[in-house]
Amino acid sequence: MTSDRLDVDILLFDVFGTLFDHDSALAEASAGLGEKADALASLWRQRQLEYSWLRTLMHRPADFRQVTEEGLDYALAALGLPGELKAPLMATYRRLAPYPEVADALAGLAATGRPLAILSNGSPAMLQAVVRAAGLEARFTARLSAAAAHVFKPHPLVYQLAVDHFGVPRERLCLVSANGWDAAGAAAFGMKAVWVNRKDAPLERLPTEPDAVISSLAELAPLLA
Ligand code: LAC
Repeated sequence: MTSDRLDVDILLFDVFGTLFDHDSALAEASAGLGEKADALASLWRQRQLEYSWLRTLMHRPADFRQVTEEGLDYALAALGLPGELKAPLMATYRRLAPYPEVADALAGLAATGRPLAILSNGSPAMLQAVVRAAGLEARFTARLSAAAAHVFKPHPLVYQLAVDHFGVPRERLCLVSANGWDAAGAAAFGMKAVWVNRKDAPLERLPTEPDAVISSLAELAPLLA
């Protein structure tokens, strides 16, 4: 863990990879894929993100469910896997497992009195489904989706949604994300940013650095001023 204490009023959470394990969709639906299961998980996630960024650059908005499905289509085709896998895999995306520490960590953070909110590229329907399936609906005062901005993170307009919603200066907001590119985007926008480095990855080579690096959400509460 690295950082000075964080003086912020509101905590914003990324969803896929931060609160919920997107690979858990694969574990459930890909039994029988053998050695291709890991390749499918990583190619699906990679194309999902790339398609979101490319559509943002191309001014061709789509909701995150669509780019998730198109990323999966591509990954199945690239790996020579049958298209019939698509429906069960997409269905599991609506009930992804939260990481083990998430429920307790959110309870502890809520006890600090700070509002907790979601700020995700996920579509409103995807966000509602995963949060409800995990029984975490009451934890969040808002679920902010990039869909309202018609672009995806790390475009500044998505981080601006939180400023507009809460009506506070951007530096009073802190984005918590396991995606290094997302933490970098929030910091570039002028929010505080915490990177949850779940996979012990090197720091992204991007123009901004997170204000803190932790390895799980359980380490967040002690950092708050
Ligand atoms: C999210 C994905 C991109 O915004 O992790 O939740």
